[in-house]
Amino acid sequence: MELSINQLSKTYPNGVQALKAVSLEIPTGMFGLLGPNGAGKSTLMRILATLQDADSGSVRLGDIDVLQQKDEVRKVLGYLPQEFGVYPRMSGMAMLDLFATLKGIPSNERKEVVGALLQRVNLWDHRKKSVSSYSGGMRQRFGIAQALIGDPKLIIVDEPTAGLDPGERNRFYNLLSEIGEHVIVILSTHIVDDVRELCSNMAIINFGEVVYSGSPDTALNALGGKVWQKVISKAEIESYQNQYRVISSKLVAGKPIIHILSDSDPGEGFRAAEPGLEDVFFSKIMVSK
Ligand SMILES: Nc1ncnc2c1ncn2[C@@H]1O[C@H](COP(=O)(O)OP(=O)(O)OP(=O)(O)O)[C@@H](O)[C@H]1O
Ligand SMILES: [Mg+2]
Repeated sequence: MELSINQLSKTYPNGVQALKAVSLEIPTGMFGLLGPNGAGKSTLMRILATLQDADSGSVRLGDIDVLQQKDEVRKVLGYLPQEFGVYPRMSGMAMLDLFATLKGIPSNERKEVVGALLQRVNLWDHRKKSVSSYSGGMRQRFGIAQALIGDPKLIIVDEPTAGLDPGERNRFYNLLSEIGEHVIVILSTHIVDDVRELCSNMAIINFGEVVYSGSPDTALNALGGKVWQKVISKAEIESYQNQYRVISSKLVAGKPIIHILSDSDPGEGFRAAEPGLEDVFFSKIMVSK
């Protein structure tokens, strides 16, 4: 199955153009959605999850017209929102059972479905505790459990690893990539390198526009030989910014290391740098400014 997004636009009543003619083809597998704060990622994800209407454009998921046939979408959708509210004092098991009921899982199957999901996300031992008492990582694993109810074909997870420690983040991603072998998983994150590791395809959006779509490797190869780095002093940053196409400047042991874009060797003490996905990210949002 493929998700095909065509010329999708959305302007909020306050005049913010959150999406400007977004077109994307999203195949089975893990798809990474990158973009700065306010780029439009959550807006796009909420529209795909049928929680919000677009102004114009179309979206198809296989045979389903996503913007029109919302009930059909909901049958095959799993969604983990950026902000995930829980009912206080309800146990993990009871809450998952409630979600399964809402998703239309028949009562004679529910116990088994809920049990299997709790095992899968490693929360079986915590099933009787209230979800509001879960740690951040447990809560996100619970979130993915509810998103997996009913074997969805399209899974949308909006910044699922924000606030997780590295161990929890790895466990969460391992779970997601297992799932992503057979279905479409759209993942938004601010951790650029995670997209490189996990996702065969990705898009970068900036101010509501797609500024890159394709594989991480293709984007990295396109930068081959064009990224140069130099350690400078803090006072020099501005003059380098005026003179070069600076993609990023990062403090390493208190000193700024700048990365610039240049088709040929800029000299002046610059060294060739191995491009990373962060260079891709910054260079894409730079040119679209
Ligand atoms: N309900 C709303 N009403 C008005 N403007 C909104 C609303 N929701 C989002 N926006 C605006 O639309 C733009 C896109 O927001 P969105 O939440 O989709 O971005 P995002 O890429 O998910 O950002 P973040 O990385 O911070 O989660 C922003 O300028 C935001 O302020
Ligand atoms: Mg968001």
